[in-house]
Amino acid sequence: MKIILGITGGVAAYKAADLARLLVNQGHRVRCILTGAGARFITPLTLSSLTGEPCYGANPDQGEWRANPSIEHIELARWADLVAVVPATANILGKAANGLASDLLSTVLLATRAPVLWAPAMNTGMWEHPAVQANLTRLRSFGHAVVEPGEGILACGEEGSGKLAEVAAIAEAIQVHGTPKLPGLSGRRVLITAGPTREDLDPVRTLTNRSSGTMGIELARAFRDAGAKVRLVLGGDGPAPWGVETTRVRSAQEMLEACLARWADSDGLVAAAAVADQRPEAVSPEKVKKGDGPETLVLVRTPDILAQLSAARRPDQWVLGFAAESENHLNHALAKLKKKGLDAVLVNDIQGGRGFGAQANTLTPLTAQGPHPPLGPLAKDQLAQAVVQWWAQRLEARPD
Ligand code: CTP
Repeated sequence: MKIILGITGGVAAYKAADLARLLVNQGHRVRCILTGAGARFITPLTLSSLTGEPCYGANPDQGEWRANPSIEHIELARWADLVAVVPATANILGKAANGLASDLLSTVLLATRAPVLWAPAMNTGMWEHPAVQANLTRLRSFGHAVVEPGEGILACGEEGSGKLAEVAAIAEAIQVHGTPKLPGLSGRRVLITAGPTREDLDPVRTLTNRSSGTMGIELARAFRDAGAKVRLVLGGDGPAPWGVETTRVRSAQEMLEACLARWADSDGLVAAAAVADQRPEAVSPEKVKKGDGPETLVLVRTPDILAQLSAARRPDQWVLGFAAESENHLNHALAKLKKKGLDAVLVNDIQGGRGFGAQANTLTPLTAQGPHPPLGPLAKDQLAQAVVQWWAQRLEARPD
């Protein structure tokens, strides 16, 4: 994505440098526009060094407007896929809400047709003032996104709301707001299971598996970016993605209960979790002592979450499952598709440890019509986007 990062005059301006670097590392192109006040907190040289692009706007060496034969604010407004203002002061919010354009950043904001995102930061009294809140309401009515500030000790010494949101959260919000929404998924509620489950033997021992949960977490992000309202039921310790309602669970039974509570008002299910198929017959409340001679662990089956939700589905709900196979992939996956009554299975070849914990992966979608061209090999974030695009196209083609 081509991102314009507007930086206005607040102490948090230094955090914009971190954000610029993060966005560049994620593969985006970033051009910064500094306001006059912003340039008192951070230098154009810092920003152009981090982004590899010129820094625009207030520049002590060149003045506010550079001598340039092109019409800079229009060029920048057209160049951008998204404009983010981080940090945004009460002043710039007020100007943009009222269509004022007195410097490069405010003229770009007025001229651009790209999505706009604000990450405000200011003193609590200013943030809570009805004028600022009314301006934000107006900006939201234009379709702009706002990453609300958090609470904490502010630069002015006061404690309260007004602290710039975390840089990682702003980067995620930029990703969400800048990704085109897919018809068929936009506004839909998608339930996703992810990660390993843990079945306890006693207070210190657990049966689990090698799943990192990354694929399910990336799918949650990709469905979110496509416009879906995502509920993630997550086993393991993977990070909860921004903007996704995440419920953490431990065992397969807990995962089932969390899913059942959310299934009736969901439009679709993606079962990406590596659910333990067995659990110890009993959980010992005390640490089990070692005995003499051979020891036997009695295991019983856990509930099949995907099968149970699929059996309880309405005709308008869709269900996607995964199949991790090390041999005879498509036949095993087809058997799962039929047995569990799925719309599609994403087949993961795990021969030789592939897939689990790996950075790149390939998934072959399989429907009742047969296998589809494989997606990948791709990094898991891109693979998740490919899965979402593939599924959104099929949803669009589906008769109502
Ligand atoms: N699944 C589930 N609940 C379980 C087991 C699996 O929801 N208790 C889901 C997984 O999230 C995945 C699919 O079912 O979407 C995998 O099906 P499964 O038949 O369990 O495949 P494998 O785990 O590969 O098991 P098998 O040993 O039968 O190959």
